Amino acid sequence: MKKIVVFTGAGISAESGLSTFRDSDGLWEKYRVEDICTHEAWERNPQLLVDFYNARRRDALKAQPNAAHIAIARLQQAMPSTQIITQNVDDLHERAGAKNVVHLHGEITKLRSSINETATVPLEGWEQHYGDRHPDGSLLRPYIVFFGEGVPYFTLACDIASTADIMIVVGTSLNVYPAASLLQYAPDKAQIYLIDPGQPALSPYGARIQHIRKKATEGVPQLVESILSNAEE
Ligand code: APR
Repeated sequence: MKKIVVFTGAGISAESGLSTFRDSDGLWEKYRVEDICTHEAWERNPQLLVDFYNARRRDALKAQPNAAHIAIARLQQAMPSTQIITQNVDDLHERAGAKNVVHLHGEITKLRSSINETATVPLEGWEQHYGDRHPDGSLLRPYIVFFGEGVPYFTLACDIASTADIMIVVGTSLNVYPAASLLQYAPDKAQIYLIDPGQPALSPYGARIQHIRKKATEGVPQLVESILSNAEE
């Protein structure tokens, strides 16, 4: 049975009503990264970041998984070796039924220690109260990988990508490294499908990518259907 690795970005959650970052109405059109997504910003004005991520958490909890999230969960149920890596901090993959999702840039439903990047605690509801502390005594902060910080699970993600027979990439501009370089870890023989109505930065990957210029909720179910019907042959 073919090993499938799925790699998603903000575009897969766009049709669930969650903003992407670099589209015309994206988050980085409204906020400066240096104000809300760097360690310096956290040090400078932690309450601003707590408020910003509380608002994003509230939106994420109100959003529902869409047909693309559901199709990927169905694929994993039918082909259990399928592994899912996401740049997204929402939990829509999990709420669609996906298991063991690797979140490269954190999880909005969790908070983390200020001194240990992988020491997380679950957060009930949408609101973090600035000043609450982690069991290790440090101030709790949003479990978000800020720009310039390490990506703790990147090596794990590379190991997973290197096992792919098929890689399905959905809704990412491929602008942010090291995450975008995951495509380079797919074996040469792997088929790589990209589902995105826009024009991600594909040049480093050349002609080996089959770009399906469709929205996630149309392109992902169609591709999953095709893979599952071939798997039965
Ligand atoms: N279906 C599929 N793709 C879509 C849809 C849709 N309905 N709508 C938009 N897209 C695509 C856009 O064409 C674009 O290629 O989703 C992509 C969104 O790109 P970005 O906004 O850059 O999001 P992403 O690639 O996930 O950003 C990576 O950057 O800011 C950091 O940590 C943040 O994880 C994020 C990382």
